[in-house]
Amino acid sequence: MIPTLEEAYEKLREAESMNPGRWVAHSENVAKASFLIAKKVKNMDENKAYILGLLHDIGRRVGYVGKRHIWEGYKYTKELGWDEIARICLTHSFPVKDIDIDISKDDLEDTERDYIKNYLNDIIYDDYDKLIILCDSLADYYGYCFLEKRFVDTTLRYGVFPFTVERWNKTLEIKKYYDDKIGQDMYTLLEGISDCVYF
Ligand SMILES: [Fe+2]
Repeated sequence: MIPTLEEAYEKLREAESMNPGRWVAHSENVAKASFLIAKKVKNMDENKAYILGLLHDIGRRVGYVGKRHIWEGYKYTKELGWDEIARICLTHSFPVKDIDIDISKDDLEDTERDYIKNYLNDIIYDDYDKLIILCDSLADYYGYCFLEKRFVDTTLRYGVFPFTVERWNKTLEIKKYYDDKIGQDMYTLLEGISDCVYF
């Protein structure tokens, strides 16, 4: 259902050669944060978390895309037989389990959008879905950053949407979920987070 670490890196490097960019370093940082948090949580496999983090944006192999990266990642990893990665490709962008609660460019066909909508409706997020959503929000190409800081930065760049606060709250709720599970503020696990700068 999921690749080995070597297979995952092989696909990431291949994707990087097709579409080089900061998304690759971001993916590695999502993987590292997911590993560090999962390691502290009972019944989570940190090595699996790392691989899920590493490949969550693999759909970006096709080039510069918006919501399409979700769909392309899902299709690609499903064809490889990596169902758990495919699931993460679809869920990682939606702290609120709704395809319309997202600010990235909608470059999907109607049938693809409907598929994702139904998929999200039909599942209950597990701990891995939640973990990658969380780490996707706090890891960038340069390292980790407080959610609160990234929220403000994103909103200053893209503006306020009717669902902005709902999305923030849902992501912070997931953070609290993990803080409670590990008995500490998860920010304390992420080295360098206090120095987070944008360039
Ligand atoms: Fe991402």
